[in-house]
Amino acid sequence: MSPGPGVLILGSAGQLGRQLQLSFSGAGEILTCGRDSVDLADHEQVRRFVRNTAPDIILNAAAYTAVDRAESEPILAMAVNARAPEVLAEEAMRLGALLVHYSTDYVFDGSKAGAWEETDTPNPLSVYGASKLVGEKAITRIGGRVLIFRTSWVFGAQGNNFLHTMLRLGRERDRLNIVDDQIGAPTTTLELAHATRSIVDGVMDGRFGNAERWSGIYHMTCGGSVSWCGFAEAIFARAQSLLHGRSPVVNPIGTSEYPTPAKRPRNSVLSNAKLRDCFGIQLSRWESALDAVIDQLKTEDPNFSK
Ligand SMILES: NC(=O)c1ccc[n+]([C@@H]2O[C@H](COP(=O)([O-])OP(=O)(O)OC[C@H]3O[C@@H](n4cnc5c(N)ncnc54)[C@H](OP(=O)(O)O)[C@@H]3O)[C@@H](O)[C@H]2O)c1
Repeated sequence: MSPGPGVLILGSAGQLGRQLQLSFSGAGEILTCGRDSVDLADHEQVRRFVRNTAPDIILNAAAYTAVDRAESEPILAMAVNARAPEVLAEEAMRLGALLVHYSTDYVFDGSKAGAWEETDTPNPLSVYGASKLVGEKAITRIGGRVLIFRTSWVFGAQGNNFLHTMLRLGRERDRLNIVDDQIGAPTTTLELAHATRSIVDGVMDGRFGNAERWSGIYHMTCGGSVSWCGFAEAIFARAQSLLHGRSPVVNPIGTSEYPTPAKRPRNSVLSNAKLRDCFGIQLSRWESALDAVIDQLKTEDPNFSK
């Protein structure tokens, strides 16, 4: 029996990459690739690896994601977030493979009052956002069978993310100052990976027609929106047992009171209408996605038991 399509997952040690491995189980022959096998800053190595493995589907969950550090490492951020995806797109085109790539709400400047559409003009405020935008543009220019999913405020049961930072700080401190004037949509790796699997399955079995119909950029986030401060409060309200009974007070502050090397958009809420209209996919609201992750932590991780 054929093992099915070859699925290459780059960034397999990252929070999304780990979930993609689980969600694509059974989708074909899975090949994972972490920094130990390929350094995305070494573009000839990337090219060789893709040629040698010749996958049918490339899921690129790897990225330089250290938003503040990128301000002082722009060359590396560009190499990983801009040039490496370009090489992946070139090689995917050569193979006729499907390339799935992830981008970010930080391509926008946050100045819009409503949710950002795919047709809105990006204007990144940070090196990270700029490097991701150059990556998107390079992939789009090369074309072929490509899906670029812009997402936001990614978290999950595993990985370095805001949820884990809050759980750690919540166990250490009685009071936390959290920014209240940046809003976005917290999005779980589980929701992203499930939606990706369902779209990739549809694309591979021809349900969405040919590539001209579906190739492009889509916003893919959980529903609803909240500030970082509201997100922290929601975490603490649900995670009592994970905080060993502590209930830290969350104090809302302005961005100006928490200076960071990278500027972040005030409003990074993305409209998911195109995703819904093209693929019939709608991710859960962030609150229920958060519930699912907290439940997972409570049941799976013995360190978090009451
Ligand atoms: N996290 C967010 O809030 C967020 C928001 C919007 C969009 N996104 C996008 O969503 C995607 C997934 O993000 P994530 O949160 O899962 O990121 P993550 O947890 O930081 O994982 C990124 C992965 O990329 C790998 N990587 C970085 N530089 C590399 C290099 N030079 N060579 C090989 N591998 C390298 C990292 O390896 P190491 O583990 O060895 O460092 C890590 O495994 C990315 O495209 C990101 O831009 C994320």
